[in-house]
Amino acid sequence: MALLRLKWISTDLLASVCHMKRAVCPGSFDPVTFGHLDIIERASARFDELVVAVLVNRTKSSLFTVEERMEMIRKTTAHLPNVRVDSWSGLLVDYCKSNEIQSIVKGLRAVTDFDYELQMAQVNLQSSGVETMFMATAPTHSFLSSSLVKELAHYGGNVSSMVPEIVNTALKSRVQEGGK
Ligand code: PNS
Repeated sequence: MALLRLKWISTDLLASVCHMKRAVCPGSFDPVTFGHLDIIERASARFDELVVAVLVNRTKSSLFTVEERMEMIRKTTAHLPNVRVDSWSGLLVDYCKSNEIQSIVKGLRAVTDFDYELQMAQVNLQSSGVETMFMATAPTHSFLSSSLVKELAHYGGNVSSMVPEIVNTALKSRVQEGGK
């Protein structure tokens, strides 16, 4: 009888894991900003598990290492129990396939983001069937980007309203070290 009950429990558990709604929020996150964190927080409320994946964008050079970027995301999302941080070098759809992820979540700031993001969403859908869901960035963050934050920090501008304190501190010391 006990064995039978155990079997039911494990079957239920298996079923719930199999039906987990899992999404990935991919990006360079160099570094993570309040704009990213807003999307991560809102997306995490809509999926069972949200993986924030630090990916290599071949068109950009980076200020922080992948490990540093992951650590900053880990610390600033520690209050979200269903958020996991990972990294990947390769095609995003391959990452989705090997991690049983059905959806990609992207934030859209303005129409200027749209052309490129739509193209990527269509390529990803056609090549793998993975859906992309766009979330509107909160209006307070619509101008915000990691590149802008890095530019401001480089010239000694105040970015404390754009990034969490630990990111601000990391930016200041990287700039002092001569990082670009
Ligand atoms: O924050 P970013 O730089 O706008 O993020 C872009 C990123 C890294 C998510 C995108 O370049 C990406 O998905 N790179 C992985 C390679 C890939 O799958 N490219 C899309 C197919 S053409």
